[in-house]
Amino acid sequence: MRIVHVVGARPNLMKLAPVYRAIGKFPEIEQLVVHTGQHYDFNMSDVFFQQLGTGAPDINLQVGSASHAKQTAEVMVRFESVVLERRPDLVLVYGDVNSTAAAALVCAKLAVRVGHVEAGLRSFDRLMPEEINRLVTDQLADLLFTPSEDGDRNLNREGIPGEKVHLVGNVMIDTLVRMLPACQTHLPADVPSRFALVTLHRPSNVDDLDWLKGLLQTLEHISSDLTIVFPVHPRTRQRMNDIGLNGSTSRLRLMEPQPYLAFLALQQRAAVVITDSGGIQEETTYLQVPCLTVRENTERPITVEMGTNILVGRDPERIRKELEMILAGKMKRGQVPPLWDGHAAERIAEIIAGL
Ligand code: UD1
Repeated sequence: MRIVHVVGARPNLMKLAPVYRAIGKFPEIEQLVVHTGQHYDFNMSDVFFQQLGTGAPDINLQVGSASHAKQTAEVMVRFESVVLERRPDLVLVYGDVNSTAAAALVCAKLAVRVGHVEAGLRSFDRLMPEEINRLVTDQLADLLFTPSEDGDRNLNREGIPGEKVHLVGNVMIDTLVRMLPACQTHLPADVPSRFALVTLHRPSNVDDLDWLKGLLQTLEHISSDLTIVFPVHPRTRQRMNDIGLNGSTSRLRLMEPQPYLAFLALQQRAAVVITDSGGIQEETTYLQVPCLTVRENTERPITVEMGTNILVGRDPERIRKELEMILAGKMKRGQVPPLWDGHAAERIAEIIAGL
């Protein structure tokens, strides 16, 4: 059997790594990794391949950044040639980025089977580009690997036949479990013992410049009591430059996007994480670190129901209040969801090997 994995953006790489390793234990399966090039900076891409031991991708389509339509179309055109040439039996796509939906669409038109790793998540917010990618990919996929039961329920509601759906657990947590012991020596220098870790990159937070300004002011206020460590995503860096906020004018500890191990070390040591990322809501739940999510909704409700995640919406006052509670030691305690046990990818590999 020949499998092609398609990845494009940073969070895909942590999901690919354990699946690639687990399938590698079946010598009869040949694997090829295609990187679309949606993310291309060294610290948004290559460093993850290096640290996670996946090896360099076999093919890089080098699509780069563009509008949603252009980026999606470019992935489709370039990936179609790969599928026609390599004739895979199964294509695995990951998460909810533009590359995921584009590759699934190509395969559906060429009648090549698609497996979606991290299927079924829904924010029910169609203004999020990722929600559109999730809906499209799940409609087209032949195998849907879900991280938690809410995913199965969402797919059932959308009419996806149950026999296509496999509840396997969370592959992002597989990577975390494997890498946690190694991350200890990767903590960036000069990080104080107590700090808040911040990441922001959603268009809903960073493309609305008035809101972004207000949010950064809230963080500046907080930083008089608690150091704010803030690795800045390239999209956010551009917007901060647009409003004249950069390292020299800010009290925030701004840094470049961090490699996987350094960021994991930061999450583990943080007093609180303030974020709009999807994966970080899951990682903090596993690490039992308090997480304030600056969004009105989440496609990962289990992190709120069972984990340490609190949705604070677009409300600076709520951020300050929740932060006060956490710093006073009155934080929400959570549990690790079922099947977030470091073995999700092995379950995926078993299912694929049995096809
Ligand atoms: C993408 C995903 C998002 C994911 C995020 C993780 C979609 C729709 N969005 O958002 O779901 O959470 O990745 O990071 O697929 N840029 C660089 N260097 C890079 C990559 C991007 O400078 O290596 C800059 C470019 O100016 C680009 C902007 O960042 O226009 C946004 O990149 P893009 O891939 O379009 O979306 P993300 O915001 O990264």
